[in-house]
Amino acid sequence: METTLVLLKPDTVQRGLIGQIISRFENKWLKIVWLKMISLSEDIVNEHYDFLMDKPFFPKIKSYMTSSPVVALVLAWTDVVKTVRNLTWATNPSDALPGSIRWDFALTIDANIIHASDSRETAAIEVKRFFKEDEITSYEKISDKIVG
Ligand code: CMP
Repeated sequence: METTLVLLKPDTVQRGLIGQIISRFENKWLKIVWLKMISLSEDIVNEHYDFLMDKPFFPKIKSYMTSSPVVALVLAWTDVVKTVRNLTWATNPSDALPGSIRWDFALTIDANIIHASDSRETAAIEVKRFFKEDEITSYEKISDKIVG
């Protein structure tokens, strides 16, 4: 089964939206494989957003992402990367489709509630970035039989 990495950003935690966002994934029957709340170090933010390091808004991202804990999840399903990106939608919430997570909850392009891996390749790297092998718990979910 394909996996993807999701971060529920500091504004999700501060606004008490963790449950509502996770419900979107559960309602879609995506399998939650791993889940934890963590405070991000500057190093991990630098690594995660290294492709944005030259952008003028990078310092803002850094202080936002370290301002409060985030919730990190690994989700699994067939085509889960695309499915979660569609549930999440555009980086800028004003471009997001009504009904998507960013349309419904995000405030600005910075405080945009959620990060979701943008490709299978990125997902593989990002899962390893936030979860160590010994944190893996594997379990059978009834929906596994549907996905195969
Ligand atoms: P995310 O999907 O986590 O990936 C990069 C993040 O940079 C993005 O969400 C936004 O929160 C943040 N960001 C802030 N300003 C911009 C911008 N002008 N363009 C793109 N991303 C931005």
